[in-house]
Amino acid sequence: MLKIKLILLLITVFSTPGLVIAQTDEQTPIIFDTDFVMPPADDGMALMLALQSPELIILGITTVMGNESLETATSDVLRMLEIANRTDIPVYQGADMPLVHDKSDFSVSQYGNWYSNEAPKMPPGGFAKITAKSKSAMSFLVESVMDQPGKITIVAIGPLTNVAQAIRAEPTFAKKVKSLVIMGGAIASLADGAGNITPNAEYNFWVDPEAAYVTLRSGIPIELSPLNVSRKSALSKEYYEQMILRETPFTQLLKDTVGKRFENDPDSVWLMYDQIAVASLIDSSIVTTKKMYVDVNINHGISYGVSVGGEELWPGAEGAQPMNVQYDLDWVRFIKMFSERIQRPIPK
Ligand code: RIB
Ligand code: CA
Repeated sequence: MLKIKLILLLITVFSTPGLVIAQTDEQTPIIFDTDFVMPPADDGMALMLALQSPELIILGITTVMGNESLETATSDVLRMLEIANRTDIPVYQGADMPLVHDKSDFSVSQYGNWYSNEAPKMPPGGFAKITAKSKSAMSFLVESVMDQPGKITIVAIGPLTNVAQAIRAEPTFAKKVKSLVIMGGAIASLADGAGNITPNAEYNFWVDPEAAYVTLRSGIPIELSPLNVSRKSALSKEYYEQMILRETPFTQLLKDTVGKRFENDPDSVWLMYDQIAVASLIDSSIVTTKKMYVDVNINHGISYGVSVGGEELWPGAEGAQPMNVQYDLDWVRFIKMFSERIQRPIPK
């Protein structure tokens, strides 16, 4: 539980029509950068967790292509904010394609739909009435960080295109970001380090390898949540049933989406990805980390987009930086935390 020490609090007030949120010095201001899709996708469940966690103050949400197109990411996230009654949180659209990586036959036939120019599908309950701001994700990232140097944490759970653009746009940006939590990569030198899109590449890094390379080498303090830690999770029907015991708009959304999947395949067990990155920011003791140098291969060929991690620098990785790499998870504590928070009442 968050302890609010009223007297000692440094109060910053964010005022938006109809809502006033007080930020305390025990809370972490974040920008949530996401290739969003509604649950059962992990980004959808990760945002639900962030919205239900008073330790985090979401200053804004920036969208990026990845799981689906940029238009789908934006349309779904706007609808999620309506369901959550948090239309005070501004949404900024970012990159609709990677920096360099082009659409290929492989990307079209595989997981993900970032290259698509199809209109977004209607989210649960219909398209949102609210709209995204006209400012770009990159401008919002740069302006926010420059306004509050050393204060803002970025949670990046999609391809790193928006973050890399901000790093390149403002030379002092990287020095002024407090920290960056990234879901991405797979570290072959640790257990469970295979890729999920090519034999060794993880999806977010593979969609935009150059953006991952720029970001990982930027000097921003990084907490990396790679596939190794995701593979310590196991969402089964039994755990899902514990998540939907109370009636709220969020549990209804889970029943309509995650529940459908378990109806079709009751024995399935899923990994959780972006949810772990968010949870680790709320309670760092649910994950075990190790300091490693991590770099990304940007040579076009069989290892394009592969992340490589080592405890020491190795030839060819000069310029790579050390970061905290998550490799183990207290699964039971994590899923209890997730279930409890998801079922908290939603603001009226
Ligand atoms: O590899 C897992 C990552 O790819 C997650 O962030 C998921 O949402 C997809 O973007
Ligand atoms: Ca994601």
